[in-house]
Formats: sequence, C-alpha cells, structure tokens
Amino acid sequence: MSHLTNKNIVLGVSGSIAAYKAPDIVRRLQDLGAEVRVILTQGGAQFITELSLQATSKNKVHDNLWDKEAELSMGHIELAKWADALLIAPASANTISNIAAGKACDLLSSVILASDCPILIAPAMNQQMYASISVQANLATLVQRDIQIINPEHGVQACGDIGEGRLPESDKIAKQVGLMFQSTKLSGKKVLITLGATIEAIDPVRYLSNHSSGKMGSALAEACIEAGAQVTLVAGNVSVELNQKAEIISATTAEKMHQSVMKNINGQDIFIACAAVSDYSIKNPENHKIKKSNQTLTIELTPTKDILKEVCKLDKKPICIGFAAETQNLLENAQNKLNNKGCDAIILNDVSNADLGFKSDENAVVFIDQKSNVKLAKNSKQKLGRKIIEIISEKFL
Ligand SMILES: Cc1cc2nc3c(=O)[nH]c(=O)nc-3n(C[C@H](O)[C@H](O)[C@H](O)COP(=O)(O)O)c2cc1C
Repeated sequence: MSHLTNKNIVLGVSGSIAAYKAPDIVRRLQDLGAEVRVILTQGGAQFITELSLQATSKNKVHDNLWDKEAELSMGHIELAKWADALLIAPASANTISNIAAGKACDLLSSVILASDCPILIAPAMNQQMYASISVQANLATLVQRDIQIINPEHGVQACGDIGEGRLPESDKIAKQVGLMFQSTKLSGKKVLITLGATIEAIDPVRYLSNHSSGKMGSALAEACIEAGAQVTLVAGNVSVELNQKAEIISATTAEKMHQSVMKNINGQDIFIACAAVSDYSIKNPENHKIKKSNQTLTIELTPTKDILKEVCKLDKKPICIGFAAETQNLLENAQNKLNNKGCDAIILNDVSNADLGFKSDENAVVFIDQKSNVKLAKNSKQKLGRKIIEIISEKFL
C-alpha cells in the first residue's frame, strides 16, 4: 500500500509557466493512491486548461470563489475539510505572497486559510524572481508557519535564464507529498481495536444487533497502521473491508468479543473499544425458528460482560480509549462513562444525528479525558481517525 492510498489531495495550480506540468502531477499523485481535486487560479488558467485537469483528476476543477452553486454548500470550506493535504504546484510568486499575507482574495487562498491540514508549496519562477528579497522573505514566513517548501531546481528556464526556479519533476513532488504521511508516531506500539456491531441470536433466523458499520474502527486501524503500529482488530459485524496489514479476529457476539479481547490484550500498548457491543444477550436463544402466533412474546435478556471496564482493571492495563454513542445528555453521559469505566479517554459520538455516526462516512466527536474536552468538527472518518490517533499519541505516549 502506498503512502497516499485513501488520501485526499487538493492541488492548487497557479500562474507559473510550469503549470503545464500540473496534469502530470495529478497522475503521479494518483499513482501513489491519492484522490485529487484541483483548484486552478486565474493565472494558472492562462497556462493550462481546466479540461486537461478535469480529465486527469476525473473531478470537476474548482476555479471560482464566487461559484454560486458550489458556495450553496460553502464549497471552499467543504474543499478545505475534504483535503488531507494541500499541494500548491506550481506556486507563483503572487500566490506565495497571498498566502504569506494571509489573504483570502481567491478560491485557493481562501481554502488555504480554511484548512487545518498539512500544506506543501512548490515555487516555480524565473531565477531572479525566486532570488528576490520579497519572495525569499515570503517563503521564510511560510516555513515559520510549518508550510513545507518543495525547493525548486537549478537549470535552464523557459525564459532562457539559467538558475534556481525550475519546478522539480512530478514524481519527485508526489513522493514528497507521500513522505508527509509516513509517520513513526506509533512505531513499535501494539494497538488492539474492537469494531463493528455484535449479533445476539434470538433463534437461528432472528437476532438483536445495532447499526454500527465498523467504519470508524476501520479508519482508526488505518491511522494506527499509517503511524507504524502493529494492529489487532477484534471485529464484529462490519460492512467495510478491513486493512489486511492488521491481524483480524472475527468475534460476532458480545461473549466472543469479550473472550477474544481478553485472550489478546496482554502486551498491547493501546486498547480502543470502538465496537458497538450489545449490553444484553438473549438468555435462552431458541434452537429452532420461533413460529408466529397471536400470543405476546417475551424475550428475556441478560447483561453481557463489560469488556472496556474489565480491560481497565487489568494490572498491566494498556492506554484505554472508549467510545460513547449517545443520543441525549451527551457530555454528561460521556463523562460518567469515563469515570465509571476507569478509562483514559472517551470519544463521544452524537448518534441522534442521522448524517453522522453509525453507517455514515462522516462523524463529529469530542475527545474527553480527565483534563480537557477536544471537539473534532464534522469530517470524514478517515481524517477524524488520524486526528484521534494524533491526540492519543500526544496525550498518553
Ligand atoms: C508568460 C508569463 C509567464 C509567467 N511565468 C511565471 C512563473 O513561472 N512564475 C511566477 O511566479 N509568475 C509567472 N508569471 C506571472 C504570473 O502569472 C502573475 O503574477 C499572475 O498574476 C499569477 O497569478 P496567480 O498567482 O493568481 O496564479 C508569468 C506571467 C506571464 C505573462
């Protein structure tokens, strides 16, 4: 798997003569597994057509901040949220100056301001322009703000000058974007994650379960693998494909999930209880299908074991993170869960909102520990997964 698999890259193409190379940059990013959306500045559009970028990226090209249709849903904010990284290649002197000044004068500069993802900039211009005090001062400002500069190369330029200012080859640029996602935050660490829904049989045909799809747990697993961890997944019923780099243990009932976790928890550094485990199982499941009748049917339920609480009580307990899927008194219920279970943090999910949480590709959560609450706004589960893993490693490792 490449470092850009499942990554969303927004490519900003600005008014440098090197903009003709942008379709090739799109292709090289795609070769590494990325999904690419392009923002084309007015200057960029003088050197490359929207059509070539649309054809290569297979997505509509965004070129106008004042696009009434796109801005119905706040297009520039959506684009900023969608991006896992922003790459501006080529970056013109003018665009670099806009970013350094914090301007929001066009779509590209607005998206940059609205994003909280890593930004890479590949300046490309005449050698004298590049060496100018203004451009160098602007680039220094960007470096101070943790924006990564992909240095231009030395050579013969379009204008005939020889010097520094040439855009590096597209595959070099794409590789540098890929390197940004190569994290070692969890290298050498072992992480056990439960995910998906449990299924409790009523009879051989019917069951008691819930809407969990396993998408959030799967995104967390991806983020841990990306960060270099050795991941074990104890999976209930899931509707997503799980990363085969993880050890995958199938456990579809609450009882099996409990057994599988307790059997594998030894030596784990982090335990994330993301599965929606049934609080009750059927006391006496029927061996044969229950026949329809006019009588009221009572099914007796019996409480299942509290996996998170048990893991938290272990002598050599790993860092324990729980999930709280709540529909009311959200913060209060989540705080109670944090205290009752004795875990290190709870990730609160508001599952009353049909657009978020269960089954959805997006979520919005609050990361709650004894010291603080960190709100993570609505975003793809992939991005939230990475943020959650970043927070866990910063707070507890
Ligand atoms: C023929 C031509 C070539 C240009 N090449 C570059 C270039 O390579 N790099 C650069 O920074 N600006 C270059 N410029 C200037 C930019 O296109 C100009 O500053 C433009 O306003 C940039 O707009 P943008 O940053 O919004 O894309 C060139 C202009 C022309 C007319």
